[in-house]
Amino acid sequence: MGVTVMKFGGSSLKDPRSLMERAAWHFTHLAAEAISQRGRFTVALAGGSTPRQLYALLAGKEIDWRSIHFFWGDERCVPPENPESNFRMAYDVLLSRVQVPAGNIHRIPAESPLDEAARRYETALHLFFGVNSPVFDLILLGLGPDGHTASLFPGAPAVRETTRWVAGVVHTTPPPPLLDRITLTPVVLNAARNVLFLVSGADKTEPLRKVLRGPFQPDLLPAQSVAPVDGKILWLVDRAAAQNILPSA
Ligand code: 6PG
Repeated sequence: MGVTVMKFGGSSLKDPRSLMERAAWHFTHLAAEAISQRGRFTVALAGGSTPRQLYALLAGKEIDWRSIHFFWGDERCVPPENPESNFRMAYDVLLSRVQVPAGNIHRIPAESPLDEAARRYETALHLFFGVNSPVFDLILLGLGPDGHTASLFPGAPAVRETTRWVAGVVHTTPPPPLLDRITLTPVVLNAARNVLFLVSGADKTEPLRKVLRGPFQPDLLPAQSVAPVDGKILWLVDRAAAQNILPSA
């Protein structure tokens, strides 16, 4: 059993494998619950490298894939076949290996010009969820070394967005990749039924400590802007990432 260390609720798992197994457990249970209650499960996937192992694990699970709709929390502004594409990563390790109907894969058209891509993705969300609010059953998020999440980077106007669901982000300073992005805004992140942060590795120790234990400053630490209004937030971290916030032995 993990050690509960987070003020938002969560667990610290001993290593990356345990972390991903626990995340896969949450994913499969949330999916079963949503499908049983509403006939479908809507999930926004995280990008970056951390969730790759989770997606590979999920590919081997018995899940009602035909009732799941896949979206993304953010995307790099590259074509889908580009190695930097978050879509490509999820497609290669998961979506190409399970029976998800093509119509259930809602890729961000990030190869389009920035504003056009943001507007097209926002229109797709309106068409799918209706124009009131996109209530995802689950949004998976990572944590960047600078405290960003999705593509809400420190100082980005999108961090304070209160109307638009999707924003285009010009990204020219580290952390890499230095690619413009399309991202869900806190309006969508905070409407979710469940938000699950996956944080692994010693390089996340400091940002995790600042986000969870430091002063509330979401412009500098955008992950702090994630606080679901009615939903639940769960931090799943491994011991390497949590070493600065675990209770002292
Ligand atoms: C992206 C992600 C980004 C990621 C963090 C952590 O497009 O890169 O959406 O928010 O989750 O940067 O990335 P790692 O998992 O690679 O450390």
